[in-house]
Amino acid sequence: MIGFFDSGYGGLTVLRAVMSRLPDRDLIYLGDHQNAPYGGRSTEEIYDLTIHAVERLFGIGCHLVILACNTASAVALRRLQQTWLPKAYPERRVLGVLVPVVEAITRQPWQIDAIRSPSDQSELVAIFGTRMTIASGAYPREIAKRAPGVTVVQQACPQLAALIEEGASDGIIRPLIRQYSASLRAQIPGVLPDSAVLACTHYPLVANMFCEALPAEIDILNQPDLVGRSLEAYLSRRPQYDCVGKQGGHVGFLTTGDPVAVSDLGSRFFGAQISFCRERLAA
Ligand code: DGL
Repeated sequence: MIGFFDSGYGGLTVLRAVMSRLPDRDLIYLGDHQNAPYGGRSTEEIYDLTIHAVERLFGIGCHLVILACNTASAVALRRLQQTWLPKAYPERRVLGVLVPVVEAITRQPWQIDAIRSPSDQSELVAIFGTRMTIASGAYPREIAKRAPGVTVVQQACPQLAALIEEGASDGIIRPLIRQYSASLRAQIPGVLPDSAVLACTHYPLVANMFCEALPAEIDILNQPDLVGRSLEAYLSRRPQYDCVGKQGGHVGFLTTGDPVAVSDLGSRFFGAQISFCRERLAA
């Protein structure tokens, strides 16, 4: 079984992409709706909440967990992989959603020592994310290591994930997205980014409003699809996951929030009826 974790609804965008690529896998989704949003929390809070969630998914029987959350991937993943995981669960793996996007932008493999010739592309990439994803500097840092000619312009969207979590109307969300898009463009007057990343897994739920707010020439990367493709390739190289996850395409949904309310809004976002069960994470 493969576990997926997000602060709330956002990771459903990743889960949906993975389900369409890997229909035979058993998957389980955990949304920490009670503690969402994560994007304005401290590094320590995000780290602790992420560990609790991963531990819970390991406890259910997941050997592989995907942090379907840019904030957790940017702020907590590396530390978790380098310190906690090798001691606590040396046989298990936790992956994030940043790597496939950085690989796609730079057209280079994540492993620096596998890079044969450095990229000389010169492009401008816009990154929209939560306050903590942007503050972490993870995207510009990792892109610069692999493609120093790529310029990154970042825009934090501090209220957006919270409004999506609340199920706010388009009438409230649309002007806010316009405002964030205008703030990003004001950082680079007269210049258009070549591409944009909605680097919060909640944002694809309102991708249509980003498309409206940004000039059509900007290519909006599809992070959920990039993650799905990358996970498919990762699993194909690791037959050890066949026996722990390939059981018939069962998908389960857990939430730390109110399962009735979360199932209702979650089904709308997911585009199909889904039923969340209540999960209490250890304090
Ligand atoms: N969906 C998450 C992300 O990708 C978290 C948003 C939040 O909880 O603030 O960043």
